[in-house]
Amino acid sequence: MKNRTSRRGFVKQSTLIAGGLAAMPLASKASFFNSDADDAIKVALVGCGGRGTGAAMQAMLSKQNVKLVAMADVFKDRLDKCYARLTDDDLSDSAGIAGNIKDKIAVPEENKFVGFDGYLKAIPLADVIILTTPPGFRPLHFEEAVKQGKHIFMEKPVATDPAGIKRVLDNAQIAKQKKLNVVVGLQRHYQNSYRELYKKYKDGLIGEFVSAQCWWNNDGVWMNERQAGQTEMEYQLRNWYYFNWICGDHIVEQHIHNIDVINWFKGGYPVKAQGMGGREVRKGKQYGEIFDHHYVEFQYADGSIMNSQCRHIKGTMSKVDEQIVGTKGTIFCGDMNIRDRKGNVTYQFAKEKENNPYQTEHDELFAAIAKGQYKFDDTENGAKSTMTSILGRLATYSGQVVEFDKALNSGLSLQPTRYAWDADMPLKPDANGLYPVAVPGETKFFS
Ligand SMILES: NC(=O)c1ccc[n+]([C@@H]2O[C@H](COP(=O)([O-])OP(=O)(O)OC[C@H]3O[C@@H](n4cnc5c(N)ncnc54)[C@H](O)[C@@H]3O)[C@@H](O)[C@H]2O)c1
Repeated sequence: MKNRTSRRGFVKQSTLIAGGLAAMPLASKASFFNSDADDAIKVALVGCGGRGTGAAMQAMLSKQNVKLVAMADVFKDRLDKCYARLTDDDLSDSAGIAGNIKDKIAVPEENKFVGFDGYLKAIPLADVIILTTPPGFRPLHFEEAVKQGKHIFMEKPVATDPAGIKRVLDNAQIAKQKKLNVVVGLQRHYQNSYRELYKKYKDGLIGEFVSAQCWWNNDGVWMNERQAGQTEMEYQLRNWYYFNWICGDHIVEQHIHNIDVINWFKGGYPVKAQGMGGREVRKGKQYGEIFDHHYVEFQYADGSIMNSQCRHIKGTMSKVDEQIVGTKGTIFCGDMNIRDRKGNVTYQFAKEKENNPYQTEHDELFAAIAKGQYKFDDTENGAKSTMTSILGRLATYSGQVVEFDKALNSGLSLQPTRYAWDADMPLKPDANGLYPVAVPGETKFFS
């Protein structure tokens, strides 16, 4: 028999704790499945772009009784486009499934919030918050969702600067105390091949960790040209990939996936990094301040090394992958296999057993919430892997050896003093429309 109060009790418990009341016991494990509409797990989406649309779909497809009840975005056109996709008659093209999820999209006009404060209005309406804006806003939005006692799915990266990482780590402690499930979109942790390779690693198949390589090399990403009449804030938001306060550079925004895999298998985070990078082809004013290539040598406490490279240059070798070298063999993540020191395959993951990790993230998160379980606590790793990527950026921009703890505790913030359309942006273009770009050897962050 269904127990309607148990699951609601679990979801509401977070709100009660947020209001300062004592923690209640978690709901019983077998309490809740396939509830009726009144008991649906309510979801709010903050950041209605490409990933937000995908994550909302995956949440709705998670087999639990889930409804999207609120949406927030700074731009109305982005919110409207997302809503149109979510209420499409046929999701074959966008989600690869025949049929639709229209009956799960319950967002009346008054629950669509446009503007910088939209998150403040959307979060109270839901049990679970999906945070999928560009990463510069994540610390602020995460803090509010935790304050309000919500379960959270948030995309990587979880910040763009050390001050943001500190804020996320501080709130991670509160989320833990409140027993809020938090899944971070580092989806390789939810991918069958990686999970199996990790098990084999823990079983000792490659022996001791010696070193690792990882890559995110490809052609690059989208770019949006400046439009007449845009304030500097609006331009930077529309073209967010190219500004560090909101994106973090591609070493943070994309390459974090690979860096995080190495941290995961290593079971820790580097203590320092040094590297090199620059802009060979990304020279125009439309490309803000980010580099187009980075090569970083990260060093762990025991002296072992992770070599990381990421590049956005058309016509060069493409490779997105990770490789972990041990005393007895090597893990090749892309090939989903392990080889001994002579090159013989000692383990091969069966490719037909691969899953869609983006869907699994939501399947597992919503199943836990539906059962009243506190199961996911991804925040600290998400924050420290993001910090590792930021460390890499600080190393390539400065050309110096940068220590993890020193950088983390530096207080360095890239954020504007306020989020508003007329905000005085920390990074401004010169008379030719060009932005200042880091120069290794000259750029300094802290002594
Ligand atoms: N895990 C993955 O493989 C994966 C894949 C793609 C993107 N992502 C991550 O998802 C996030 C979003 O990326 P995207 O590709 O969807 O970008 P996007 O530009 O398509 O979407 C971002 C949306 O957030 C909105 N937004 C910006 N600032 C906001 C604010 N303050 N409040 C509310 N809305 C705001 C934008 O208007 C836009 O609609 C990034 O952190 C990105 O790294 C992860």
